[in-house]
Formats: sequence, C-alpha cells, structure tokens
Amino acid sequence: MRNFNEDNITQAVLDRLGACTNERTRAISEALVRHLHAFVMEIEPTEAEWAQAIAFLTDTGQMCSDTRQEFILLSDTLGVSMLVDAINHRFAGRATETTVLGPFYVEEAREVPLGADISHVADGPPLLVRGTVRDPRGEPVAGALVETWHADDEGFYDVQRSTGRAALDMRARVRTNENGCFWFRSIVPAAYPIPNDGPVGKMLDAQGRHPYRPAHVHFKLSAPGFETIVTHVFLDGDQYLDSDVVFGVKDALIQRLGSVEDEPDTALLVYDFVLPDHRPS
Ligand code: BEZ
Ligand code: FE
Repeated sequence: MRNFNEDNITQAVLDRLGACTNERTRAISEALVRHLHAFVMEIEPTEAEWAQAIAFLTDTGQMCSDTRQEFILLSDTLGVSMLVDAINHRFAGRATETTVLGPFYVEEAREVPLGADISHVADGPPLLVRGTVRDPRGEPVAGALVETWHADDEGFYDVQRSTGRAALDMRARVRTNENGCFWFRSIVPAAYPIPNDGPVGKMLDAQGRHPYRPAHVHFKLSAPGFETIVTHVFLDGDQYLDSDVVFGVKDALIQRLGSVEDEPDTALLVYDFVLPDHRPS
C-alpha cells in the first residue's frame, strides 16, 4: 500500500502491527499509534513545533544520570505516575492509600533500632514519628519492615546535599515490634520544589505551574503475606496540599502534627498503616 495521507495513515500503521505475535505488545503498540496519531491530528503541529517536541524529549533523556531521572519527573508532573499507581492499587477492603515513590528512595538505607534518631547531619525542629502496622482485620503485623525517608527543614534530601553513602541522613529502616508498633526520631521536613533546573522545570514554567510538593514523610511498608505499599504522610496545614506538583496528596494521608509530653520542643507525627493482603497472581 502506498499514497498515505492524513485520512489513511493511522489505519496503515495499525495494519502493519498485524504481524506482531505477542498479544500485549500488539495491544500496547496499537493504542500508542491510535492515541499519538489522534494527538497530532488534534494539535496540528507546525514542523518547528514538532522539532521542539523532539528536542524536549532529547533533553529529557540527556538530563538523566545515575542520580537524576528526568523521565520519571515528567511522568510525575503529568499525573501519569499517580494514574499508574491508582490502576495498580485497587485494593478491596481496608488498606492505607498509596502514592508515588519519587526519585529520592535509596534501597540500602541503614536498619536502626526502634526509637533511634535518623537525622544525624541535618538540623531542624525535632520530630517523633510513631505508628502501627496492621492487617485489614486490625491485627498487628509484627516484624514489618518500615522504610522511611524525608527532606530536611530547608526542603532538601540528603542525596541532594552530598554524594557519598556515608552521608545518608533522614532515612532508615525500622521493624515493628510484637504489637505492630514502630517509632523513631528525626526533624520536621519542609515543603520543597522538585528538581526544576532541567526540561521538566522549563515545562512547568511554560505551563504556569509551581514546582512544589507539600511537606511529607515517605514510607515503604512490607511484610511476608502482604502487598508492599509505598506512601507518604503529609503534614496538615501545608500551603501546597491542594497544588502538589505531582498530584500525590490524598485526604487520608494528611496528619496534623501533635506535641510530645514532657518535650515541648518536639513535634509528634502519628500514623496507623494497614497493609493489604497479598493478592494471588
Ligand atoms: C518526592 O516526594 O520525593 C518526589 C516525588 C516525585 C517527584 C519528585 C520528588
Ligand atoms: Fe519527597
């Protein structure tokens, strides 16, 4: 077949995919072609605009390194990461709501005893974090792995301030005790802009958007027999709760800071997590 034009080229590309024997690959390729062609038909880009789009994607790729993933930032800021998260966490019954992992998770954070202070280098208002991990029936989950990480009081993560692993700070792993409880000390995190010195930052500017995330503490919770969940607890009252640049805020994840008895300077963050039962695959 020849003589392709705007009326027949979409179908011609779809027909060419008939040779694809992997059903999932074919379905994905077909949807990609249909939606991409529909996008181009709707936008009717000039050739200069199309070249600009390709330059944007090229810059996005070139910005990526071992410590910077600009494509994930693009997915986050276009709401695609939260859409993928929602599709993959349709838990039936009680379970803590999930949200994006973000680029600052470090797999090899140190495991520390319950009650440890996980902020060594960073300075800031003291914080005590306390919580429980339960199953959907309300029973405590003992020995659950609680991984946590957060920004400092100026909105920077340890990995943004330094390079070495030795400097890992405000992140740790703890395990729940026999009552499903955990607690640790740290500092109160601040709201922060996502890395915005690259193409995604330029995109946000062009779209008239700010780059901020409301203050939060990240959690990744896992235990044998349960689905792992990745979530945050957001600090109530933050000015960016309704305009999080990555669309990650859910009401059920917002918590007001309290105070610690006999420690007037220490803020208290309490959250009770529910792990969903493992889904048969
Ligand atoms: C974060 O919360 O660490 C984060 C999430 C998405 C993009 C940038 C940062
Ligand atoms: Fe974060």
